[in-house]
Amino acid sequence: MHDFDPGYGQAPYAALVANYPGTETYPAADFRTEWGPIFHRGRLDGTARILVIGQDPAEHEDIARRILIGTAGRRFQGFLNKLGVTTSYTMINTYLYSVYGQQAGTAHAHDPAIAAYRHSWLDTLTAHNSIQAVIALGGLADTAYQTWHATAAATAYTGAYQHILHPTYPDSAAAQGQDRATAMAKMLANWNTALDALHGVITPDQAVPLAHYGADLNPADLGAIPEADLPPGLPAWMRSDEPWASRQGATAADKRATITVQIPADQRPF
Ligand code: URA
Repeated sequence: MHDFDPGYGQAPYAALVANYPGTETYPAADFRTEWGPIFHRGRLDGTARILVIGQDPAEHEDIARRILIGTAGRRFQGFLNKLGVTTSYTMINTYLYSVYGQQAGTAHAHDPAIAAYRHSWLDTLTAHNSIQAVIALGGLADTAYQTWHATAAATAYTGAYQHILHPTYPDSAAAQGQDRATAMAKMLANWNTALDALHGVITPDQAVPLAHYGADLNPADLGAIPEADLPPGLPAWMRSDEPWASRQGATAADKRATITVQIPADQRPF
């Protein structure tokens, strides 16, 4: 028997996915709209207690059609594990499409049409689940939450809120010349503060004692992406710790048009 995500066939999600915005809302110069929208990951059956707001999908998400399944997803899945929340969560991103270019994410943080569609998801998810906490990953997700929370519909949401550093913050900081180990320690200290605030407040699926992160992530701190979070039939290596998708191309246009998928060496039955 295999678990799988049954998708978006039922109300109210069928109408939400049927009415997704395209390039009139997400300009193709700033978003990789050609790879299609990636909507969510996690429960849509009313059982979610944590609602997560991520940033934007990357190449693994473009292929698997669910968000937060790569490095960022596995790091954050480990955070959920530390709360004892193994199934009762649902996640959306700030942006439906992958951001293209350095400034694009910030440039569109306050676009009303982008926010309006995101609000329809946030309104629906909070109305159809008993959400105990919203967790925003990174600054753009925090802006998305604050924008939503200022709307009339969002006043019904009275649960907890935590804004934590994005799971790939150490990698972005290192790419900008900062010390990676220092950035990692900073993120994990920030995550420990959020664990202190949420542990014991969120009803766990499996109660676990509070265990803080150290100064660096160790392998046990990464969470496996559950089979139940991906569409039916996706191979197990698409949930593995090894990267299996990358953008390739000699020109910017080719790179934008190409994602190479390769089964990790240790996941091959041959
Ligand atoms: N992948 C996502 O879907 N969201 C993020 O925030 C990062 C990676």
